[in-house]
Amino acid sequence: MAKRILVTGGAGFIGSWTVKAFLDDTKHQVFVLDDFSNGLKQNLEEFRNEPRLADVKKLDIAKAKEIAAYIDKIKPNLCVHLAAQIIVQDSIFNPVRTFDADVRGAFNLLECCRRARAGFAFMSTCMVYDQAGAASRISERHPVVPKSPYAGAKLAGEHLAMSYHHAYGMPVVIMRPFNTYGPRQKASGEGGVVSIFLSRQLKGENLNIYGTGKQTRDLLYVADCADFVLKASMSKAADGLALNAATGRDVSVNTLARLAIDTAPVKTGSKIKLVKHIHPQSEIMKLCGNAAAAKRVLGWKPATTLPRGLALTREWLSGVFERGETVWHS
Ligand SMILES: NC(=O)c1ccc[n+]([C@@H]2O[C@H](COP(=O)([O-])OP(=O)(O)OC[C@H]3O[C@@H](n4cnc5c(N)ncnc54)[C@H](O)[C@@H]3O)[C@@H](O)[C@H]2O)c1
Repeated sequence: MAKRILVTGGAGFIGSWTVKAFLDDTKHQVFVLDDFSNGLKQNLEEFRNEPRLADVKKLDIAKAKEIAAYIDKIKPNLCVHLAAQIIVQDSIFNPVRTFDADVRGAFNLLECCRRARAGFAFMSTCMVYDQAGAASRISERHPVVPKSPYAGAKLAGEHLAMSYHHAYGMPVVIMRPFNTYGPRQKASGEGGVVSIFLSRQLKGENLNIYGTGKQTRDLLYVADCADFVLKASMSKAADGLALNAATGRDVSVNTLARLAIDTAPVKTGSKIKLVKHIHPQSEIMKLCGNAAAAKRVLGWKPATTLPRGLALTREWLSGVFERGETVWHS
């Protein structure tokens, strides 16, 4: 039977790819809820004539009454909760905003889903994990340490969601993707390092690296991340679990910068510069994920190599620049 799937943050980067995955790979109806603080209408443009995209609603998840009225009306079977304030640095400058969206927002949605008897797929992040040793891949059993209000808010959201699982029997899955990149990602903040480097290279600007550049990231292509979100949120076997999504290979920020310059078909003269870190205390030096559980439980594994993902992202960014549009970068 066709389900009613609510995707919060559905106008955002991963959200719009998740909407695409649900529309392409299932027969379900999709409802998007987003306050458009970082999402864009154009991210959903390609689905304009798709009748199974049942609604796109502009709403702030921190506003309990409005959210309750909307969810009581649409009666979803499942909430795929991706909406969040996502920039680590912003969470350090303005933790209230992060708390409102990422903790209060998650709580408001959980309360509504409890009434609607809907399942809840909670988008957490690899940023919740503690530093790992140089040789190790981070599995779901690795200790968590909130090094920023963003990570703290995500852990609070995870715990709230799991409390609803245990107290009310709500179907809940916790999703912890590693750094995700690809088309439609804004070139801003730490998460957007691939977009920032590629867009700076295309414009002939220097590539700035905060700190030593020895920090590593496990870079997941966004279509693979969306496929993971779809499989995790639809799987009965994932109920009550936290699952990583990762490639299992990390690359240093220095290497990524070199790749952005060396693999570019058109050389623009960009150079790499090391600059002072803004928040070294919140930096995680090594991030490399172990996604064996997602493979075992969901049959999921990433399909896109880093060179292929970089090429697809560069192609998209080139199109954006050719059309005279902008991608934000700091
Ligand atoms: N990008 C990554 O590398 C990455 C990695 C792991 C986890 N995540 C998580 O994935 C999710 C999506 O991230 P993204 O990178 O696509 O970022 P994004 O900013 O593009 O998506 C978040 C969406 O949530 C919306 N939003 C923010 N606050 C809201 C509010 N109060 N009410 C309603 N909507 C609100 C934004 O407008 C945006 O469309 C987030 O939960 C993020 O924490 C991202």
